[in-house]
Amino acid sequence: MTTGSRATLYVGIASLALPSADEGADHAPVRTVTDAALLVADGHIVAAGPRVDVEAQADQTKRVDLGGCAVVPGLVDSHTHLVFAGSRADEMERRSRGETYEQIAQAGGGIVRTVEAVRHTSDEELLRLAEARLAAMLARGVTTLEVKSGYGLTVHDELRMLRVARRLGTKVPLDIRTTLLAHVIPIARRVEREAYVHELCEELIPQAAAEKLADYIDVFVETGAFTADDARTIVHAATSLGLRAKVHVDQLRDSDGAALAAELGALSADHLEFVSATGRAHLARAGVVATVLPGCALFLGKGPWPDGRALRDAGCEVAVATDYNPGSSMVRDLGLCATLAATRCGLTVQEALWGITRGGAKALGLFDRGTLAAGERADFVVIEADDWRALLYEAGHARVQAVYVGGRRVVPTSHATRRSPRSTRH
Ligand code: NIG
Ligand code: FE
Repeated sequence: MTTGSRATLYVGIASLALPSADEGADHAPVRTVTDAALLVADGHIVAAGPRVDVEAQADQTKRVDLGGCAVVPGLVDSHTHLVFAGSRADEMERRSRGETYEQIAQAGGGIVRTVEAVRHTSDEELLRLAEARLAAMLARGVTTLEVKSGYGLTVHDELRMLRVARRLGTKVPLDIRTTLLAHVIPIARRVEREAYVHELCEELIPQAAAEKLADYIDVFVETGAFTADDARTIVHAATSLGLRAKVHVDQLRDSDGAALAAELGALSADHLEFVSATGRAHLARAGVVATVLPGCALFLGKGPWPDGRALRDAGCEVAVATDYNPGSSMVRDLGLCATLAATRCGLTVQEALWGITRGGAKALGLFDRGTLAAGERADFVVIEADDWRALLYEAGHARVQAVYVGGRRVVPTSHATRRSPRSTRH
């Protein structure tokens, strides 16, 4: 095949991770190729695999030698609350002295404190804070990232958060997807919850849809947040306007949230620390991606780790995400979350890598990334190691040498090219 002068051949790949498209029981989640190559043209993968095979397809191409590194697909963080303001470090201290996350919330702390902070922070400042966090995540290999609202709680402030998230997407090279999150009911409005849900459905969701501010709808189904019936009403209002559903369920107790996710046809059910065997079966049958967020158990220090193994064994596809937020998971390293998925949640290293690549993409309903198959977006991460497992093994410390989004190197940027890959034309 002639690839033409716009193509680039990446060689010097000591270890290439190729996640499978689907993670059914018959598939190995990841195929490893040593002495590999990648051929990229027009921002997409032309071929990825053994160097001799890929080289045979390259013709007149620019050649980049990655110097014996490892390559994995661009990481997909499918669940974050990246736009926020303020610190809740004091709550961490309170937990260290014995209070629980729920007790702190009931005593007026928790989510509503971040809501106050967001309401008192300008759009420009919210954007600046989020951009700085995002730069750190990109430098760790994240190329697609979901961002939720949910710290506004009024129509005005929720729209403001979504606009900031959308603006973020125009300022950074990553692919940002946005979610309108029905998070909690403001304290002052808890006596009129039906009116609040009505306002969400009749005002907030239609305005967000009209301005194209949200790709997904998410509902936190929990005592003190929204009921299953609220979630049905909210999700139906949003999906009828083209948003796709995701849900926060079974985080603090089993409330049949997984069955609800299946009933609603959600793309993913997230958290699942307390999901039952019946719930797991529902997710598997309905093809809902089960997203585990090990950053929460790491950060809160109490409560069970999500059981990724039981979810996989029940036939679910399992994604892994950070849940990066100031209250329950001040953890933004997706590679570290994959390490935790493998060491604390029962997944194999390969399943955990699948969870932060193809699994994350599926949890967002994106099928053009995450496996490095021909035709996919050329989003990939170069790790300074001769074995891709270093991404998990060097827990939180894997050295990311370069990140490519749509075939363009975005880390390091051109003005910071120390140790950048060697490029020659042949
Ligand atoms: O995903 N579960 C609800 N929401 C967040 C926590 C938000 C917060 O504490 O600020 C979560 O864990
Ligand atoms: Fe969350």
